[in-house]
Amino acid sequence: MRKVTVVGAGNVGATCANVLAHDNIVNEVVLLDLKGDMAKGKALDMWQQAPVDRYSTRLVGTSDYADTAGSDVVVITAGIPRRPGMSRDDLIAINAGIVTSVTKSILEHTPNPIIIVVSNPLDVMTYAAFETAGLDASRVMGMAGILDTARYRAFLASEIGVSPRDISAVLMGGHGDTMVPLPRYTNVAGIPITELVDAERLEAIVNRTKKGGGELVGLMGTSAWYAPGAAAAQMVGAIIRDEKRIFPCCAYLNGQYGLNDMYLGVPVVLGANGVEKVIELDLNEDEKALLNTSANAVSSVVEKYKQMKAEKATEKAE
Ligand code: NAI
Ligand code: 2OP
Repeated sequence: MRKVTVVGAGNVGATCANVLAHDNIVNEVVLLDLKGDMAKGKALDMWQQAPVDRYSTRLVGTSDYADTAGSDVVVITAGIPRRPGMSRDDLIAINAGIVTSVTKSILEHTPNPIIIVVSNPLDVMTYAAFETAGLDASRVMGMAGILDTARYRAFLASEIGVSPRDISAVLMGGHGDTMVPLPRYTNVAGIPITELVDAERLEAIVNRTKKGGGELVGLMGTSAWYAPGAAAAQMVGAIIRDEKRIFPCCAYLNGQYGLNDMYLGVPVVLGANGVEKVIELDLNEDEKALLNTSANAVSSVVEKYKQMKAEKATEKAE
């Protein structure tokens, strides 16, 4: 039996569960939230969608971690989202506590799951889940790169007037305004992007991509969920079907790109064992500098997280 748990039945979690149900790739999707009745209600609603949309995926809504036992993959979306005026990093204090406690509860019932973190600030929350879980780094990863690349591809598709499906791109770095879209690795059905979009427009699109999350917070008063939920489900699909797909994901780096003991967005091969390989691109000096700036931005938030953790431990000891 194939089973996926999505923790957090809010905007992103419910969307992810719904996309997974439609994908028909697992027997059961468990939707867990502190607000158990809301999770139950959403799961029931999606089960009633099954006859209409013709899927067989069973849906279980719950607040009881016992229902998550035996999950192949767990997607963590629990936490608070950004509101206008907030950066992703402002969420750290609340979401670190949530992600840590969710990870512990999951492991009590499933000792060796693959965990995909979505909660923000993404790169740091993924690190927190990794530290808490004590699993092999290949089994803990974060979702951001697929979303950020999708935004970049969608903007380019609108600019050129082609299908976003034909746009292939790589984007690296942290899930924040320092992310690094890479025009040198962007093409439209094999045609280099620089032959179709002039430098000025391309730069404007790169900048819009970097602020893509904030643009949506400004429009909706909370952060996005359709593309994020679908992006997390796409990662689940690659793992469950052992597809060996290449996606930009937030993965553990231990020497790759000259970076150590940190989570950052890089291209990886995703399959049944989780992150099966980190792909090292031959970046030029400018690209390396942008990646290092992004890594430094993530490291400074990791330091904040570690400091908060140490302060809490001291408070407990006193
Ligand atoms: P939401 O507020 O709609 O849903 C969050 C859900 O988490 C709520 O239903 C809440 O009850 C639940 N929750 C809170 N604490 C919990 C706990 N301890 N155990 C179980 N459930 C708990 O928020 P939304 O829009 O779904 O966003 C979720 C997170 O994902 C946010 O941190 C947001 O910033 C992040 N996000 C990350 C993206 C990425 O690319 N990585 C993209 C979009 C959102
Ligand atoms: C996004 O990029 C806020 O991380 C969230 O939409």
